[in-house]
Amino acid sequence: MESDSSCIDLTHLNEEELPMKFDESLKLSDKEDAGADDYSDIISLRLLDLTDVDDFMEWFTDDNVSKFCSCDSFVSKEDAMRYIADVVIPHPWFRAICLNGKPIGSISVSPFQGSDRCRGELGYELSSKYWGRGIATMAVKMVAAAIFVEWPHLERLEAVVAVDNPGSQRVLEKAGFIKEGVLRKYYLLNGKPKDVFMFSLLSTDTQVAYFM
Ligand SMILES: CC(C)(COP(=O)(O)OP(=O)(O)OC[C@H]1O[C@@H](n2cnc3c(N)ncnc32)[C@H](O)[C@@H]1OP(=O)(O)O)[C@@H](O)C(=O)NCCC(=O)NCCS
Repeated sequence: MESDSSCIDLTHLNEEELPMKFDESLKLSDKEDAGADDYSDIISLRLLDLTDVDDFMEWFTDDNVSKFCSCDSFVSKEDAMRYIADVVIPHPWFRAICLNGKPIGSISVSPFQGSDRCRGELGYELSSKYWGRGIATMAVKMVAAAIFVEWPHLERLEAVVAVDNPGSQRVLEKAGFIKEGVLRKYYLLNGKPKDVFMFSLLSTDTQVAYFM
């Protein structure tokens, strides 16, 4: 695994920013990954609400994003608001990825139930104008640092990535996930069956402690 000198800096948080759950306002300085001439960006994760709809539509209507995602995409603001109200807000763990406070993408962990409840599935997407700056990798590390604390029953965080999505595979590799193998014709993307790689990170993997 690569060495990573970035750190989650909870000292940025004041009491208003740190309500019930610490992950609702995790912040991370991305000085290490920022462009050479920009050391001011702060990546944070927070809950979304209906007032975020315009930002939300930016990545959910981005064709570069939807071609890799089985998630819904929207044309109307009304549909997006309904999706935020019906899916995003009630979701057990859905956060906006924010750059200097502006939502530019989202990241979620969907829990499994019953005898599969030791597992959660990670998903993420970022508006394409922000790609290639290390933002998704940072967000994944922040989730890994938070989720095993918030959900102590969770043993395994997994992610399935289409074999023809090398950017997302790289994100998971950089965040210390293990590539476990190929699952053939695992899900439909735009109506076509896709082969995927299964990646996982375990609560006991040493890199998890390093992210905290
Ligand atoms: C996947 C996604 C979240 C990555 O976001 P990002 O902020 O650009 O990711 P990062 O900058 O942290 O890392 C991307 C890495 O992939 C690499 N990469 C990007 N495109 C690549 C390609 N076509 N081939 C090989 N590597 C590629 C980048 O070079 C970078 O690696 P590096 O740091 O070693 O150079 C973003 O591309 C996205 O939203 N895609 C559409 C939705 C999606 O695929 N979601 C995941 C579904 S599983």
